[in-house]
Amino acid sequence: MVSPRFALALLALVFPGVTSSIIVSREVTVSTPLGTAQGVLGAVGANRFAVRYASAERWAPSAVVTKWSLPNNSTDPAALPLQCPQNGVDASTYSEDCLSMIFYVPVTVTAGSNVPTLVWIHGGSFDSGSATGTGLDGSKLAVATNSVVAVIQYRLGALGLLAPNGPLNLAVQDTINALQFVQKVVPSFGGNPARVTLAGQSSGAGMIRALFAAPSASSLFHSAVLGSDPMDYGFTSTKTQSLLQSTFDSLISCSPSDSACLAAVSISDILDAQASVESNSQAIDPSTALGEPLHPVLDGTLITNPLDSTAPFPKVTKPILLTNVRNESIPTIYGVALPGPDPFPDFYFEASCDVSLGAERTAIVMDSPYYPLDASQDVRVQLEVLGTDYVWRCPTWTFARSWVANGGKAFVGMFTLGATYPDNEGVPECLKAGAVCHEDDIFIIFGTTPNPSPAQTQLTFEIQMRWKMFMLTDSPNAPAFPPWLPATTTDVHAREFGVLTTPSGEVPALACDPAFWGQEVQYDYQFYDL
Ligand SMILES: *[C@@H]1O[C@H](CO)[C@@H](O)[C@H](O)[C@H]1NC(C)=O
Ligand SMILES: *[C@@H]1O[C@H](CO)[C@@H](O)[C@H](O)[C@H]1NC(C)=O
Ligand SMILES: *[C@@H]1O[C@H](CO)[C@@H](O)[C@H](O)[C@H]1NC(C)=O
Repeated sequence: MVSPRFALALLALVFPGVTSSIIVSREVTVSTPLGTAQGVLGAVGANRFAVRYASAERWAPSAVVTKWSLPNNSTDPAALPLQCPQNGVDASTYSEDCLSMIFYVPVTVTAGSNVPTLVWIHGGSFDSGSATGTGLDGSKLAVATNSVVAVIQYRLGALGLLAPNGPLNLAVQDTINALQFVQKVVPSFGGNPARVTLAGQSSGAGMIRALFAAPSASSLFHSAVLGSDPMDYGFTSTKTQSLLQSTFDSLISCSPSDSACLAAVSISDILDAQASVESNSQAIDPSTALGEPLHPVLDGTLITNPLDSTAPFPKVTKPILLTNVRNESIPTIYGVALPGPDPFPDFYFEASCDVSLGAERTAIVMDSPYYPLDASQDVRVQLEVLGTDYVWRCPTWTFARSWVANGGKAFVGMFTLGATYPDNEGVPECLKAGAVCHEDDIFIIFGTTPNPSPAQTQLTFEIQMRWKMFMLTDSPNAPAFPPWLPATTTDVHAREFGVLTTPSGEVPALACDPAFWGQEVQYDYQFYDL
């Protein structure tokens, strides 16, 4: 039951030299099995409810709360959660008490509406990001898809993935607890607990892949949208995990069994030790991914299958959408300010390829027809195509083929138009016409692009309508839009979104031909046998 109460707070905002304006914030309440949820009426037709869904002692498994409470120990229904501790942000913006989520509920949806629920899992390499990140306000997405949107947080970095006292995958277990909480309370808001679709970008999509590999999560969701998952990396092996762990343990100078010592380490010491493990990860174990050294661990208990070619792929039933953006790797290739000649010459291709692939795989790549060098062109153009193919696009297509071969339904897409995310504003190549960088799909999906062009508005409309159909019917097809064919084992039918660059509107396979990436040249998960 939603009962709006007017005039909870009257805020007079006085602008110098301008007449004062008054904002009336309306509190809304919903009764749930865990008590009364307090939220606020949003500006665009969705109510917002922030909540702490679980609590956890440091480096201990989290437990779902038994009582509804606002995040940040607040009594203000407008309070937003603090982020989970992470490097690169001010310490006042985070707290270890961060297992919170934010629900966005269209004002027209109430208990009994039985609409789908979309749970968004944010990205940030498993060591950064939050539910309050730029563009992640789910109000417009909830209204456009007529669904309940929940944007969740989970522990990050060492606090979520490097517990000295033993528990692995705390971050994954947090996410499972978030989904359990959703199951408990979402009917009170009008969401159908049997129609939960997970959606995430980058490591958020990687988290969804971990949930697919976790039998204990299986009953908690129905379908999923994985955007820009760096699938090449696979999960972390227990062997690699223990190498990273022992380096971390020695840096914080606590014996793993000394719980008083572990509880007393300051967050800044933890984050410093984490940063040091991350920046030395390649030396600790070359199988750790350069851009994302910490990720979920294939521990054999929570996560039981690598979901790749290194073990028999399980039978699957859940429908999935898999998307990439056209130029996933521009921020990586151009983001580092390299001293170098302009344009970058040919030899640089082999040298940089060698760093990530090693000599053996580099030789195969150089002999292939897929990345032809052109002396008149900056060699980073080819490196970018290679990076996108190797880390994102081709392993995603391989995953789609495996999914389909084992009983599932998959739709594969590619954003050929995006909206520049703040992280990419400083990378000139991301601002070029036609470039769609990693994260440039986020504003489009949420409908939060600042000053959108007509093409961006149209793309948001298409994506949100397709997501809506997918949540309801397991197919992202809608009469108003061109058919999006499901992937088959021989043709993934990767549909372009934004600008059609081919007559069919489908992305050509090129190096994602199954005979090349994944076979002639191995992904990291094959190369390191993860
Ligand atoms: C909320 O209060 C509890 C108990 O005092 C404390 O442990 C926790 O850190 C607080 N959370 C925040 C976000 O301040
Ligand atoms: C969290 O609570 C503290 C203490 O009351 C307050 O100073 C801070 O502004 C709050 N943060 C958020 C994001 O609400
Ligand atoms: C973006 O990707 C397309 C397709 O791979 C490629 O042709 C283009 O060169 C890329 N743009 C940049 C700026 O690298």
